[in-house]
Amino acid sequence: MFFGRRRFLKQSVALTGALALAQNVPKAPKALARPPLDPATLTPFVDPLPIPPVARSSGRRTVPGQAALEVPYYRLAMRQFEAKVHRDLKPTRMWGFGANFPGPTLETRSGQGLLVEWANELPGSHFLPIDHGIHGAEADKPQVRAVIHLHGGKVPPGSDGYPENWYAPGQSATYFYPNAQDAATLWYHDHTLGINRLNVYAGLLGLFVIRDSVEDSLHLPSKEYEIPLVICDRMFDKDGQLYYPVSENPRGPWVSEFAGDAFLLNGKLFPYLEVQPRSYRFRVLNGSNSRFLDLKLANGQEFHQIGSDQGLLPAPVPVKDLQLAPAERADVIIDFSGHGGQQIILKSESFEMMQFRVSGEAVPARVSLPASLRSVPRIPEASAIRTRELALVEIDDPVARPVRMLLNNSRWSDPITENPVLNSVEIWNLVNTSDDSHPIHLHLVRFQVLDRRNFERFTYQSRGVLQFTGPLTPPEPNEMGWKDTVQAHAGMVTRIIARFEGYVGRYVWHCHILEHEDNEMMRPYEVVIDK
Ligand code: C2O
Ligand code: CU
Ligand code: CU
Repeated sequence: MFFGRRRFLKQSVALTGALALAQNVPKAPKALARPPLDPATLTPFVDPLPIPPVARSSGRRTVPGQAALEVPYYRLAMRQFEAKVHRDLKPTRMWGFGANFPGPTLETRSGQGLLVEWANELPGSHFLPIDHGIHGAEADKPQVRAVIHLHGGKVPPGSDGYPENWYAPGQSATYFYPNAQDAATLWYHDHTLGINRLNVYAGLLGLFVIRDSVEDSLHLPSKEYEIPLVICDRMFDKDGQLYYPVSENPRGPWVSEFAGDAFLLNGKLFPYLEVQPRSYRFRVLNGSNSRFLDLKLANGQEFHQIGSDQGLLPAPVPVKDLQLAPAERADVIIDFSGHGGQQIILKSESFEMMQFRVSGEAVPARVSLPASLRSVPRIPEASAIRTRELALVEIDDPVARPVRMLLNNSRWSDPITENPVLNSVEIWNLVNTSDDSHPIHLHLVRFQVLDRRNFERFTYQSRGVLQFTGPLTPPEPNEMGWKDTVQAHAGMVTRIIARFEGYVGRYVWHCHILEHEDNEMMRPYEVVIDK
C-alpha cells in the first residue's frame, strides 16, 4: 500500500468520521441538511451494470482552418437530468451529457480525428456548494460554467479545454481531436477553474476510446466481452440526492479532500454483471474526486493488467490488488473460466462494489493472453536537456487544517515557469513535501516513470537541500507503459521523463485530486519554439 498515513485513515472510517477527517476538523462536522444515506442499508446487486452508450456522430464537417480535412462531427450537450442509481432509491439529480452519466463513450481509431461540439445546456444555478473565496470561482462569475478537457489526448491548445476558457449555459465550444496517438482509454471531463470538483462530482465525465491495429492484432476480448468500468465514489442523502461536504466555515466551504462511502459503477450503486466463464476485458477508470481505489476480487483471484493510462503495457502484469489514483486508467483481463456458477465480488479496500455472476454454460476453450503486447521503448535519461525540481506543497493554517495546495510554491495566476521547448525531452522531479500521495497529471504529453526515492523533508523545507534517505525504487511493473498521471507519494521524489511533442502553446499540469486542483494545485505550462 502506498497511501500516505492520512489518506489511509481518511478512507478507513465510516461516513461521519470520513467527514470530520476530510475537513481535518476535530469537532463534529456540519450536519447534513437532510439525513445521510447509509449505503449498507441498500440491497446490493439488484441492478445490472449499465454500459454507457456509444456516441453517434451527426455527419461530417470540415476541421476549422484545415479545409481539406473532413471528420465525424458530434454534439454532446451537458444537461441536468434525473437517474436511478439504485432500484430502491428515488431518482438522483445529476449533470451529464444528454441524459447520461457517465456520458456517451466516444469511439475512434488512431489517426482518425473528430470534432465535438460541447454544448452547455445546464441550468442557471449550481446544486453543489461553490466556494467563492477560491481563485476563479469569485461571486461575480456565473455560477454555472463548463469547459471540457480530453484527458490523455494529444490535442492542439485551442481544443484542450483550458480552465479559464469556460462558458455559461446557452454557449458551446467545438473542439478538434486529431487522435494521432496510440490506442488507449482516454476520458473527457469538465475542467472549469475553481469549480471543477463540483462539476465532475455532479457528473460531467465520460470515456473516449482510441483503437489501433497493434491492439487489433492481439485479439483481446472484444464487443460484449469488453466492458468499460467507470468508478466514482459519492455520498448520498436518504432522498437519493448527491451530497458534497462543506467545511465548518460558511465563508470558505472548500474541503481539502472527498471520500464517499457509496460507489457508482457506470452510474449504479452495487451493480451486478452476468458473465460467461471466459476472459473479459475491463477498461477501468478511477473517476473519483480524491479517492485512491484498491481493487481486488473478493475470492482472491488473480487478474492481469494489460494497459495503463496511455495504452498497452509491454506485457501483461499479474495483479491481485490494483491501486488506481484519481484519473488513472487500468485495462485489465479477468478470466472467469473455471468459475462457472459462482458469484464474485469486486471490492475496493473493504467496500464491496459490484458482483460478477458467472453462468454455468460451457464456452469455447480459453484463448491465452499474448505474452507481449506492445513495445514501449524507454526514453534514455541522457536525452533530457533539462531537469526541473518541482515541489508539491500543502499550506496549512495554525491548527494544521489545509488551506491550499501548491505546485512549485506558485499559484495558478503566477507567471509561467515550466516552458519546455517543442520536441525536447525533460525530466521532472516531483518533490512531495506533504503527507499525501498526489496524482500528478500533465496535459498534451505522455511520459514514463523513472523512479522514486525517499528524502528528508525537514532539510528540504528549511534549506532547500534534497537529502535522500532511501534507495531508488523502480516503477511498479504496471507503471512500465506510457502514463499521463503518476502517483507522487508522500515524502518521495518521483521522477518522470517526457518528450514535449505535438503542439506549441499553453497547457496545464496539476494534481488530479480535484479538491487540490481547484485550490491552486494546478499550473499553466507552455510548450515553446526554441529561440
Ligand atoms: Cu483529467 Cu487536467 O485533467
Ligand atoms: Cu488531462
Ligand atoms: Cu494533490
